[in-house]
Amino acid sequence: MAGRIPDHFIDELLARVDIAEVVGERVQLKRSGSNYLGLCPFHGEKTPSFTVAADKQFYHCFGCGAHGSAIRFLMEYDRLEFREAVEQLAGMAGMAIPEEAQQAPPRPENTGLYDVLEKAAQAYQGWLRQHPQRDRAVDYLRQRGVSGEIARRFGIGFAPPGWDNLLKALGEPERLKRAGLVVERDGNRSYDRFRDRIIFPIRDRRGRAIAFGGRILDDGEPKYLNSPETPVFHKGQELYGLYEVLQADRHPPDILVVEGYMDVVALAQHGLPRAVATLGTATSTRQVERLFRASSDIVFCFDGDEAGRRAAWRALEGALPTMRQGRQVRFLFLPEGDDPDSLVRREGRAGFEAQLARATSLSDYLLQRLAEGIDMQTMDGRARFIEQATAPLQKLPPDVYRHMLIERIAGLGRLEPDYLTDVVDGRQTRARQRQPTRAGATPGDSSAVRRTPVRLAIALLLQQPALAPAAGDIAALRGLDDLPGLPLLVQLLELSTNEPQITPGAILERFQDSEHEAALWKLATWDHLVPATGLETEFVDAMNRVRQLLAERRLQHLNERLQAGELTPDEWAEWQRLKL
Ligand code: UTP
Ligand code: MN
Repeated sequence: MAGRIPDHFIDELLARVDIAEVVGERVQLKRSGSNYLGLCPFHGEKTPSFTVAADKQFYHCFGCGAHGSAIRFLMEYDRLEFREAVEQLAGMAGMAIPEEAQQAPPRPENTGLYDVLEKAAQAYQGWLRQHPQRDRAVDYLRQRGVSGEIARRFGIGFAPPGWDNLLKALGEPERLKRAGLVVERDGNRSYDRFRDRIIFPIRDRRGRAIAFGGRILDDGEPKYLNSPETPVFHKGQELYGLYEVLQADRHPPDILVVEGYMDVVALAQHGLPRAVATLGTATSTRQVERLFRASSDIVFCFDGDEAGRRAAWRALEGALPTMRQGRQVRFLFLPEGDDPDSLVRREGRAGFEAQLARATSLSDYLLQRLAEGIDMQTMDGRARFIEQATAPLQKLPPDVYRHMLIERIAGLGRLEPDYLTDVVDGRQTRARQRQPTRAGATPGDSSAVRRTPVRLAIALLLQQPALAPAAGDIAALRGLDDLPGLPLLVQLLELSTNEPQITPGAILERFQDSEHEAALWKLATWDHLVPATGLETEFVDAMNRVRQLLAERRLQHLNERLQAGELTPDEWAEWQRLKL
């Protein structure tokens, strides 16, 4: 792994490049005041709701909720990884990635691991081509219909029988151990992990072997053996076959997620080089995000049995946080007793594609599962249906997709969609507990922001970080969390004070993927109705009100202690000061 790119570099980069130019090269934009407007490239629309705020250096779509800095735009639009997007922008801005974060792996211990893993991959492949006992392996692959060409494409190899083939061939026991290829027993005797097995290298996105799976040649146990977690291999993040899919097509129309190594290989063998496999784990949100960067249509293939249904539900839960308009997840349940390998071998590519055509969309599958065993004709049944729908809906990001699904579910439950939105956002129950309806937040309008001094101060700062010094000395605010959002406000004030040139887009970039992301975007795009000329006055006023609220809380606290006769001399002095 390359070193982390420092935050200050990202901030400066985002201050130097012009997001309007970056987006404008790819999307047709029209000027509209200090903003640009165009048709959103992330969802289909006929009237423009995609805005590029040139003064703030971010984009935001009021239709589908897509948002981000110039970096995010390149990641989404050109399907780049974070580092690639940063590199491209740095090239435009004439900036060089800092030495310590250069692409060349800075951690020598990992360089060594990649090196030894690559050598091992070569050795396994060599043994499949020439080893006195290679015939059994070659026969096995032939019998499973794997051609020499496909075996080469996937780098398939053979670990011969014996305890120390790899140890002897590579002679780096320590590194082999850290790479997970050699096992040490009782702290002394070491031996090869993979023996007498067909070897499938697992490659990272750059094509480097980072781990291996090994299949036994007969009916022995365990059928598959996999590399353990190592510094360069994290099972829950990798996808077997993704590198090979992208080698075949940089922009595949869809990607299939299957369960086994052999399924991936067999599909490629039959002209469907678009499959990846998770490594014996449930599909994580992170993996789905990676897949969506490569294609906008993901099809999960599962066995038609109970285990397959359980796995499908877990995959669905992993996919929910990634669902947005323009992205599609589908589920394909295979006929009883089949896996993709057996199906494509029996029915060929056309037969498999016919199955694909009848895959169920995520929303249909979700509704089907939610309604299972429920009598939708009764009110009690519908209430249970809504109750079970709440948790999955809460996992969806705010987006047109979520809105449409809420409408559909509300329709089936015979509820007002606005009411269901409130339930999902937790406003209904809370409203009943303690909050009478407040002015400013119309029920059902999930984009409404309740105007508090903290929120207003954050929103104004996000509009113009240079306002920060006007907040005065904030030392007394540090470490307090008496008001919702106060720690975040303090964090933003510190950031903007230390880096007066920071753009709003860069601030938002820092909080991308954090717990604050959604709240910050809401505030950044909130129409707070403060005119441009009044920003500073309003900001100072908001900060004064924050301090005043804190003083009131403090006074109340001291009053309580006073009544209980617990005031210390210092607190007594403070109480007298505050009381005025
Ligand atoms: P399967 O048993 O369905 O794999 O396990 P498969 O690819 O269909 O196997 P064959 O070769 O056609 O018989 C699916 C996946 O689960 C993991 C492997 O990643 C495998 O590809 N697995 C399975 C293990 O890690 N260990 C095992 O013992 C079995
Ligand atoms: Mn199989």
